[in-house]
Amino acid sequence: MNSPLLKLSNLSIVHKETNKTIVRDISFEVHENEVVGIIGESGSGKSLTMLSILGIIPDSLKAVGEMYFEGQKIEDPRDLRGKKISMIFQDPLTALNPVLKIIDQINLISKSNKMEYSSTLDEFKKLLISMKIQNPERVLKSFPHQLSGGMLQRVAIALVLLLKPKLIIADEPTTSLDVTVQKEIIGIIKKIKTTEGKSIIFVTHDIMLAKELVDRIIVMYAGEIMEIGSTNNIIESPLHPYTKLLIDSVPRVDSKPERLTFLQGRVPHFSEIANGCVFFNRCPIAEIGRCDISKPNTQRKYDNHLVKCFFA
Ligand SMILES: Nc1ncnc2c1ncn2[C@@H]1O[C@H](COP(=O)(O)OP(=O)(O)OP(=O)(O)O)[C@@H](O)[C@H]1O
Ligand SMILES: [Mg+2]
Repeated sequence: MNSPLLKLSNLSIVHKETNKTIVRDISFEVHENEVVGIIGESGSGKSLTMLSILGIIPDSLKAVGEMYFEGQKIEDPRDLRGKKISMIFQDPLTALNPVLKIIDQINLISKSNKMEYSSTLDEFKKLLISMKIQNPERVLKSFPHQLSGGMLQRVAIALVLLLKPKLIIADEPTTSLDVTVQKEIIGIIKKIKTTEGKSIIFVTHDIMLAKELVDRIIVMYAGEIMEIGSTNNIIESPLHPYTKLLIDSVPRVDSKPERLTFLQGRVPHFSEIANGCVFFNRCPIAEIGRCDISKPNTQRKYDNHLVKCFFA
């Protein structure tokens, strides 16, 4: 079998000052033409994990572990940025320079990536048109603050596609947008998946959105991976109690309100995490004397389904 496109091996992210671990022992692979979803509540470490892949975590933090791209060990993740891996952020302004018109940003990108300017510009206009932007010339002449959120996210996606990266990381790319625009952006990402055949990591806290979009799901909680499996296995036969609760907390059209289960409590802050399982204080099946004292190992179940729970 080919080596995976991206492989993370025991990535941890540590707070330099306190030496506390924020993200612990993250290992997963992304294969070519695969869309992997990362789901989990706010504060579970999804964004930090993604930022560490590109070597852009805040200075106060340190990442340790190993990363491989196309089978090669990566010493400096910054080497991957651009043509190998490119990121779509929750806030499209993160990727844009506020004081430059879009056309000038294209100029910069083409220079720094040694791409020919006029063909890059043509390609960019085509991308905008493919995303149903009627008047690309107007967009080109605008500063970022003159464009709507949905328009900016399309521009940010087009900038990513210009670079033709092998892997796209999309970190909650629709959270800051209103519902109709969200749907349009999801449509664009689906199209990238089917027509461009790209590998994508799609981060979301919406498990039903992941169901629509991704081939495999990684469930994170409090900085750790709880479960990894095919989308179908995770949704139809989840093994981890956290995943089960996440799925049960989705309001179903066919269920009566009193049958809904809502997740109680919150994700613990990394400073509060003790020795046991990170999900211990919210877990409906936790065993005192076991789950609060020792951490479960990750076990491999049937069909490449991984889970970190004593009772799976
Ligand atoms: N610069 C930092 N210094 C210290 N702690 C941080 C820093 N950045 C993030 N954290 C902490 O790391 C944890 C994970 O944060 P992260 O942003 O990766 O979560 P997330 O899963 O992306 O959440 P969300 O769904 O809200 O985007 C949180 O507890 C957060 O408080
Ligand atoms: Mg995040």
